[in-house]
Amino acid sequence: MDRVKGKTCVITGAALGIGKACAERLADEGAAVALFDLHDAEGEALAAALRARGARASYWHVDVADEAAVKAAIDEAVAAFGGLHALVNNAGIAGVNKPTHEITEAEWDRVQAVNVKGVFFCTKHAIPHLRRAGGGSIIHLSSIYGLVGAADSPPYHASKGAVRLMAKTDAMIYAPDRIRVNSIHPGFIWTPMVEGHLKASFADPAAAREAVAALHPLGHLGAPDDIAWGVVYLASDESKFITGSELVIDGGYTAH
Ligand code: NAI
Repeated sequence: MDRVKGKTCVITGAALGIGKACAERLADEGAAVALFDLHDAEGEALAAALRARGARASYWHVDVADEAAVKAAIDEAVAAFGGLHALVNNAGIAGVNKPTHEITEAEWDRVQAVNVKGVFFCTKHAIPHLRRAGGGSIIHLSSIYGLVGAADSPPYHASKGAVRLMAKTDAMIYAPDRIRVNSIHPGFIWTPMVEGHLKASFADPAAAREAVAALHPLGHLGAPDDIAWGVVYLASDESKFITGSELVIDGGYTAH
C-alpha cells in the first residue's frame, strides 16, 4: 500500500492507457500524482476519481512538446504538492506507419517533438526540483522498438531508441545528485495507441491483434498494469541501486 508514500510524481500522458494505470498504481501506493495530458475530460475525471479514493491528485493540460507549458506545469505541481520525487515520461505518439521513403519532414518531426523533445523538456525542468528534494527517479517509456527493429513505424523506432540512451546519459550526469534515470521497454500493451495502430494499419484489426499477440512467447498482449507495476518499482526506494538500466516488460518478445 505505501511503496511510494510521501513522494510526488509527475506522470505525462496520464489520461489514458499506460499513463493512466501508472497514475492509479502510484496513487494507490501512497504518492501524490500530477497528471499531465491533452485529453482534459479524461484527465480531470481521473484526478477526481483518485481524490475520491483518498489520493492527492490534480490534472494539468500540458503539451509536452511545448517547453513553456511543461515548465509552468511542473513548477505549479511542485508548489501544489510541496516537492517532486519522480517523473514518468510516458506521453508518446505512434506517428505514421509508412516506409521511410514516403515519410514527410513534418511527420518525422512531430514524432520526435513529442517522444524525444517532450522527454527532454520534462526532464530538464524536473531536475532542479529533484535536486532540491535530494534525489529522485526519472522513468522514460521507451519500447521494445527502442531495443530491436521491426518493419514498421521508422520515426517511432528512432524516437524510442533515442530515449533509451537519453536515460543512460542522464543517469551518468545526475548520479552525483542521487537522481536515477531508467527506461522501460514494453511489448505490445492493449491501449488506445495500439488499438488505433492496428485499426489504421490492417484491414482486419482483430486478426492483426492475434498476429501481434503471437509475437510474444507468453502468447498475449500486455495490460497497462503490467507496465505500471514496473513504474511503481522504479519510482520507489526499492530500486535505489538501479540507474541507467532497461526494464524490459515484453512477454518475452525480445528474448529470441
Ligand atoms: P496512448 O495513446 O493510449 O496514451 C498516450 C497518452 O499520452 C494519451 O492520453 C495522450 O493524450 C497523451 N499524449 C500524447 N501526446 C501528448 C503530448 N504532446 N502532450 C501530453 N500528452 C500527450 O498510449 P500508450 O499505449 O498508453 O503509450 C504510453 C507510452 O508507452 C508511450 O510513450 C508509448 O510509446 C509507450 N509504449 C506503448 C506500448 C504499447 O504497446 N501500448 C509499447 C511500448 C511503448
